[in-house]
Amino acid sequence: MIVVVAAREGEVAGIQARLGELGVCAPRVEAPSASRRLVFATVDDDWEAERLAVALRAEGHLAVTRPDSGPRVDAWMRHTEPIMFGDRLSVCFAWSEHDRSGLPGLIELGPGGFGNGEHPATRLLVEQLLERISGGERVLDLGCGSGVLGLCAVELGASRVVAVDLKPEAVAATFRNATLNGMDQRVEATVAPLATIDGAFDVIVANVGRAAIVELAPQLIRLLAPGGWLAVSGISPPQCSLVAGFLRPLVEVEQRASGEWAALVVGAPIRE
Ligand SMILES: C[S@@+](CC[C@H](N)C(=O)[O-])C[C@H]1O[C@@H](n2cnc3c(N)ncnc32)[C@H](O)[C@@H]1O
Repeated sequence: MIVVVAAREGEVAGIQARLGELGVCAPRVEAPSASRRLVFATVDDDWEAERLAVALRAEGHLAVTRPDSGPRVDAWMRHTEPIMFGDRLSVCFAWSEHDRSGLPGLIELGPGGFGNGEHPATRLLVEQLLERISGGERVLDLGCGSGVLGLCAVELGASRVVAVDLKPEAVAATFRNATLNGMDQRVEATVAPLATIDGAFDVIVANVGRAAIVELAPQLIRLLAPGGWLAVSGISPPQCSLVAGFLRPLVEVEQRASGEWAALVVGAPIRE
């Protein structure tokens, strides 16, 4: 196995020294972009490699293991390919070895949480952000997972994101990812129940599935600012009309499907 540690240029020597203290030599360093460095350490024993990566992550490093030979390397390279969203946005794991120097609006993700932009339910909401964010919006990212949607919103010009998830590990991953991308001043991540959140959001994105959308519909309606829009996903195309019913008096703006997944966009009428 290979332990890969993603770092900034100024951190490389410290990481190599730390790996040395842990008994591993890591002379190989790659630069997949101007600002990203990857430190590689080959470890013969798979269990030892995992243990090392876990220990480094506990110290705050962006460390993962990857196979060092055979067909699993091809699978790893495919899994870590940057994901492009048109010509304005791309998402990539920090430890990706693919060249990403020219990628537009790059968001890097570290370990933990759910969602790297690849899943159709996530993609459908990224598409909505790309088409509808014009700049300065206050955004609620319900079921933030890794924070990927909120971070995309900030990259596209949103002024502030409140990212909410049931799972503390998702909230921690979102905060780490916001910091990784220099967006921590604009992203607040919390496990607070939606009922305790105040404010009016111009944009709400919620890739949480039918049951959670239906259950939280009254809160979503309450939190949407006049003139704002709410996009939900994690539902199937036939579930759109049922979900739209629970979201009334918000009015349906659009439904979009990708295979067996769908996103529904509803809007809040502008109050007189
Ligand atoms: C499918 S993931 C979506 C992650 C990411 N937003 C994306 O689009 O890739 C769903 C996330 O919603 C969270 N979740 C599910 N029900 C929720 C609820 N009622 N309140 C807050 N978070 C919820 C889960 O813990 C999980 O992290």
